Amino acid sequence: MTTIGIIGSGNIGSQLAHAFTRVGHDIVIANSRGPETLEGLVAEVTEQARTAGSAATATAGTVEQAAQAGDLVVVTIPLKAVTDIPAYLLEGRIVIDTNNYYVERDGQIAELDDESITTSELVARHFSGARVVKAFNHIPATEITEHAQAPGTEGRRALAVYGDDAAAVEQVSGLIEAIGFDVVNGGGLADSWRIQRDTPGYIPHFTADELREKLAEATRPPAA
Ligand SMILES: NC(=O)c1ccc[n+]([C@@H]2O[C@H](COP(=O)([O-])OP(=O)(O)OC[C@H]3O[C@@H](n4cnc5c(N)ncnc54)[C@H](OP(=O)(O)O)[C@@H]3O)[C@@H](O)[C@H]2O)c1
Repeated sequence: MTTIGIIGSGNIGSQLAHAFTRVGHDIVIANSRGPETLEGLVAEVTEQARTAGSAATATAGTVEQAAQAGDLVVVTIPLKAVTDIPAYLLEGRIVIDTNNYYVERDGQIAELDDESITTSELVARHFSGARVVKAFNHIPATEITEHAQAPGTEGRRALAVYGDDAAAVEQVSGLIEAIGFDVVNGGGLADSWRIQRDTPGYIPHFTADELREKLAEATRPPAA
């Protein structure tokens, strides 16, 4: 069992907190407003972990504490806020990037608009000392816990991972398997446009075979 840092306690961060603690991983979770605002969430996560028979702990921390909690840190905040997290905090870490680009929320980002870079490459460029793995960007938050199923279950949902570091991708894939999903390794971060917003694989429930087909069907959207 390992301790996983989670930066961002909103829709995705809170669901991942439940998912990880249920299977025995401790978590340290942070948001922008400070640990005192997370007491209710960590109490609820801990209680549900106990109900699931897990002794894992959920702790509220600062961004610095979540970043330093362990080797694996999820960054799940609006894309526009990623550069607010000092890159040195995540040096040497595996960073799970869940982000999507919403112009209405994140503002116009020219390199994403002209498709010269993927969202995860943008995140990896900021966290240049980290090993970034894209995951969880194409599943609605509540389905992270609602759609989890045991390995081998007929029709088990699959999630895509992309990353440039094979060992990091393997570690994140193992975590995703453990919380209840099959995994499809789509390749490097440069190819991760295949699962960005509004691609065929984005949002619906797909098995691994179906998801592979959807990733292959994706076409890169024309430049805005
Ligand atoms: N919602 C989904 O179903 C879904 C699915 C897949 C991917 N995603 C993507 O995953 C990312 C997170 O989405 P979400 O829906 O979970 O967002 P959200 O519910 O809006 O939560 C965002 C979290 O980020 C925190 N935050 C914002 N700026 C921060 C900063 N500078 N430092 C530390 N924490 C900061 C917020 O803190 P406060 O609570 O203090 O404001 C909040 O806890 C987004 O890129 C989103 O597009 C979302």
